[in-house]
Amino acid sequence: GAGGAFGGFSLGRADASASARFDDTTEPALSVTGDEPGFGGEALPCHGEHQAGIVSVPATNVRHIAYRLRDETDRASLAGMFRVLTGDIEALTAGVGPLADPEPELAARPARLSVTVGVGAGLVDRVDPRLRPAWLAPLPKFEHDELGHGFDGGDLLLIVQADDPLPVAHAARMLHRDLDRFAEVAWVQQGFRQSRGSEASDHTMRNLMGQVDGTVNPTPEEDDFDEVMWVDRGDGQAWLAGGSAFVLRRIRMELDSWDRVDRPGREQTMGRTLSDGAPLTNPTGGEHAPVDFDAKNALGLPVISSAAHIRRAHSVDRRERIVRRAVNYDDGNEAGLLFGCFQRNPLTQFVPIQRRLDEADLLNEWVTHTGSAVFAVLPGFKSGEILGATLLA
Ligand code: HEM
Repeated sequence: GAGGAFGGFSLGRADASASARFDDTTEPALSVTGDEPGFGGEALPCHGEHQAGIVSVPATNVRHIAYRLRDETDRASLAGMFRVLTGDIEALTAGVGPLADPEPELAARPARLSVTVGVGAGLVDRVDPRLRPAWLAPLPKFEHDELGHGFDGGDLLLIVQADDPLPVAHAARMLHRDLDRFAEVAWVQQGFRQSRGSEASDHTMRNLMGQVDGTVNPTPEEDDFDEVMWVDRGDGQAWLAGGSAFVLRRIRMELDSWDRVDRPGREQTMGRTLSDGAPLTNPTGGEHAPVDFDAKNALGLPVISSAAHIRRAHSVDRRERIVRRAVNYDDGNEAGLLFGCFQRNPLTQFVPIQRRLDEADLLNEWVTHTGSAVFAVLPGFKSGEILGATLLA
C-alpha cells in the first residue's frame, strides 16, 4: 500500500501524542501564540539530528515541490542557496516572516509547518559525482509503470506540510521567491489527509479507495527503526549520515471500476476488511490484529490470497521495510495516492517490494504509477548550522 497515512502515527495535540510516540526523535510542538484557541499557533522545531517533517505526526496538507537547477547554478551558488533556504525555514517554521516578507501575518500561525529538504542526483553531481550514492538515480523500470507525465525526477525537493493550507501556501511562495535565482519548478504535487480533529488522534488515515492505509509501518519505538530509516556513516557517503532516502510515486486510482467490485472482492484484493482494516484471517480482531498468512479456508485455499496486496507488500526480512508516509490527491479529474516513503536504501527496500507488487498484486488492476522520483533527504541541522553544509564542505 499506499502507505502512509497516519500509519502508526498519532495525530491530535502534538504536545501530548507526539511526545508519547516519538519521545526522543521528535520534539513536541511549541506554542508561538500563547494560549490562543486552535492549533494554528503550534510550531514544530526545525532543528535536530534529523530534519523535521519525517517522523513527526503527519500533517493534513502536504505539498511536494521539485526544482530543476538553472544551468548557471554552480557549487558556489548552491552554498548561497542553502544559506537562504536555512534562514527561510528557521523563520517560517517559528511563525515569523522571513527576511523582507511582505505579508508576515501569513506566517504567524504555522500550524506545525515543516519544510523537509531533499536533493536529487543532478544537484549532487553538480557538487561532485563521487558524493552520489548509487541509489540516487531513477528507479529501475517496472512493467506497469506509465511515467513521463511531468512528475518524474528533480534536482531539489521541498516537502512543505502543515495542518492548515494557508501557511503551506505562504511558505511555498516565500521559498520560491528565494529559490527562483537558482532553480525553476519542475513539478508540484499537493496531497492531503483527513483534517486534524476530524478523527480521534490515533486514527489511521483512509485513502480514496476507502481503505485504512498505514497500519503496518515501522515506528521510532521499534529497536531497529534507525536501521531501516537513516543513512549511516558506514554506508559510504559520510555527508548523508543522519539523512534518509525518499521515494515519491504518483499512483493514479481507477475509482469508477474499483467501485463496481463487490465488497468481498475489494477486501480480498487487500487481505483486510474495509470497515476497519482488520486482517481477513481475524476480521473481528481490529486493525492491529496480527495477520496469519498461513491460514486456509474450508476449501484449503489461503484466506489471504497469494496476490493480495498485503501479502505481496509484506517484508519477511525486517531490514527491507520502508516507512510509508503517503497522502491522497484529488484534482477533480484524477485521484490517487502520492506514495511517499522513507528508507535507508531504495535499491534494497522500495525496489524489491515494488517488484513483488508489479509482478502480481491484485491491486494492479486499479492503480497505475504515473510519476517517480528519488531524493536524498539531507541530515538535520542545529541552530547556527546551514542545511546541506556537509554536502558542500
Ligand atoms: C499495506 C494500500 C501502494 C507497500 C497496505 C494496506 C493498504 C494499502 C490499504 C493495508 C494497511 C496497511 O498496513 O497500511 C495501498 C494502495 C496503493 C499502495 C491503495 C496504491 C495506490 C503501495 C506501494 C508500496 C506499498 C507502491 C511499496 C512499494 C505497502 C506495505 C504495506 C502495505 C509495505 C504493509 C504490508 C505488511 O502488512 O507488512 N497498502 N498501497 N503499497 N503497502 Fe500498500
